[in-house]
Amino acid sequence: MSIVLKSPREIECMRQAGRIVALVLAELRTAAQAGVTTATLDRLALEIIAREGGEPAFRGYREYPATICTSVNDEVLHGIPGRRVLRAGDLLKLDVGVCWQGMYADAAVSVVVGRGSQLAHRLVEVVEEAFWAGYTMARPGRYLGDIGAAIEEIVRRNGFSVIEEYAGHGVGRALHEEPSVPNHAEAGRGILLRSGMTLAIEPMISAGSGQTLVKRDGWTVVTRDGSLAAHYEHTVWISESGPVILTQL
Ligand code: MF3
Ligand code: CO
Repeated sequence: MSIVLKSPREIECMRQAGRIVALVLAELRTAAQAGVTTATLDRLALEIIAREGGEPAFRGYREYPATICTSVNDEVLHGIPGRRVLRAGDLLKLDVGVCWQGMYADAAVSVVVGRGSQLAHRLVEVVEEAFWAGYTMARPGRYLGDIGAAIEEIVRRNGFSVIEEYAGHGVGRALHEEPSVPNHAEAGRGILLRSGMTLAIEPMISAGSGQTLVKRDGWTVVTRDGSLAAHYEHTVWISESGPVILTQL
């Protein structure tokens, strides 16, 4: 296995996939109100993806049963939408993947439902700041480890933990490609970044220890200590002149 460099045509398809991902996330952010079920958000996501001519990337991937992932509070990622009703104060992670003409894009956001705790809001701010620190490192001449080191530095400085058991990933011709993009790394280590690479950079952090468990549904990843978790992700193209977000409108 090796890292696939994408052609300009492939990048354009990923941009189309990414535009649909961004559209879905924007709609779901607004729809995620107290009293709404996570299944409703899933249905809405599928409607938008279908209307825009894309295909959901998660459904059927390793038999995952839904269009999106909805993870609440101590759930970190891969939460399966269902009858759960959102409540004011919930820290919700929305994760969406779309395929367009065979090319994939993947992104996630954390949102606080209604008025949440100060801790929930701080986690959301810090996970986004950590993402942008990693993003800045995604340029030719830098090393893969520079991304994780930059992310980790922000998370640590704010007194939170990086969830080390999960990582970002290459993305493009498949939802998950090489390389793995850890959020815990040493600067200057790992592969040399090159233009044409496309990475899903996705810090996952918690207010507690950072260790996780998988629930009995076989998917939902929760923090071991029950602490709140946040997640933020974009598909990033390493262009000759630096990083470009593909999951945007
Ligand atoms: N964005 C998540 C990831 O990259 C989505 C996975 S859900 C799955 O791991 F069903 F597709 F696995
Ligand atoms: Co991902």
